[in-house]
Amino acid sequence: MTSEKKWRLPVEAYTSQEWFDKEQELLFSKVWQFAGMLEDIPNVGDHLCVRAGLQPLIVVRGEDNELKAFYNICRHRGTELLRTTGKSKKMIVCPYHHWVYGLDGELKSVPSQKEFPGLDKSQMGLHPASVTAWKGMIFVHPEVDAPPLSEWLADLPDHMGPHQPEKLVEYDGVRYQYDIKANWKIFIENYMDGYHLAHLHADTLNMYEHKSQRYTYAGRHWTFFEPLSKSYKKNLHKVAPMPVIDHIPDENIGAYVHMLFPNFGITETEVGWTTLNITPIAPNRTLVDIRVRTMPMTTTQYNSGWMRWSKWSKVQEPNPDADDPLESHDVMLEDIYACEQQQSAMRSPKFEVGAVAETLERSILEYQAHYLDFMEK
Ligand code: FES
Ligand SMILES: [Fe+2]
Repeated sequence: MTSEKKWRLPVEAYTSQEWFDKEQELLFSKVWQFAGMLEDIPNVGDHLCVRAGLQPLIVVRGEDNELKAFYNICRHRGTELLRTTGKSKKMIVCPYHHWVYGLDGELKSVPSQKEFPGLDKSQMGLHPASVTAWKGMIFVHPEVDAPPLSEWLADLPDHMGPHQPEKLVEYDGVRYQYDIKANWKIFIENYMDGYHLAHLHADTLNMYEHKSQRYTYAGRHWTFFEPLSKSYKKNLHKVAPMPVIDHIPDENIGAYVHMLFPNFGITETEVGWTTLNITPIAPNRTLVDIRVRTMPMTTTQYNSGWMRWSKWSKVQEPNPDADDPLESHDVMLEDIYACEQQQSAMRSPKFEVGAVAETLERSILEYQAHYLDFMEK
């Protein structure tokens, strides 16, 4: 990696269809991608669909209870086999001409089989891909002989918080999906931007001590930590907006934030464990799917928590319906506002990145170097 301190990506990287297509082929088809949580497919025959760049994949829980991944492409004429996350299928049946595959991917039956003299069913199973799980999360890779996820993660596990996501719960309805009018890399760069925390989020993230933030790279993955502010930590159990996670030792409490290269965020805090799956849809459009796990709590506890927090911090409770996102007191809406403004500014010939903060924005330049390693191949 060079030590050059300049923005490495041209405007076209955020705006052109050509870059977008190239990313699908050279980047997203070549890396491990988040597919879902283990609890999404608990039983034999449960399945989910996911794209890894140009590759449509399915993950199935097989008869042996193990996860299997296959290309979601019928071996007859390529029709997509499954469309959504679903429950206990015994077989995978192509909707077009009803070729039937087992949960192990083998081709079991073909209607009017005498129409296909010489068809060797044993050679016509679904193309396999790689799948593995880590901390309750399922990851897929389009290549069947992909290097193991553990190798790809490098020493990232050493930088994770002491959180045990399997001990936390994801409530129905606590899932946030945002359709953002910005390139996916703008969202990622904002996620890693340590400079804006004290400014754009002056009110909403003031429970953390931004001055003590630190980050490093584990392999290609960005990993960040900042402690709680002193006054918040002192009053934590009385004022936290949600029940404090009970298995984090006091001395380790803080915000652990990670970006698994290239597009999957994990945020571990004193009250929550959150995944952010960031999916590029078009050069100027990105879907962000956020799932949150917390300590078990009642609705009343949730509502009174925010009231208590708001009273103590003198910051209004989040209001996602506010007309002005900058008045919403909602961290995500503040970030989306900043991302969409940046995307929109890129249409002007006057747009340029005028300067980069030496330490607080450096992580973005490092991310861009990793990105270009794939794109310049
Ligand atoms: S395309 Fe699948 S059975 Fe024909
Ligand atoms: Fe932010």
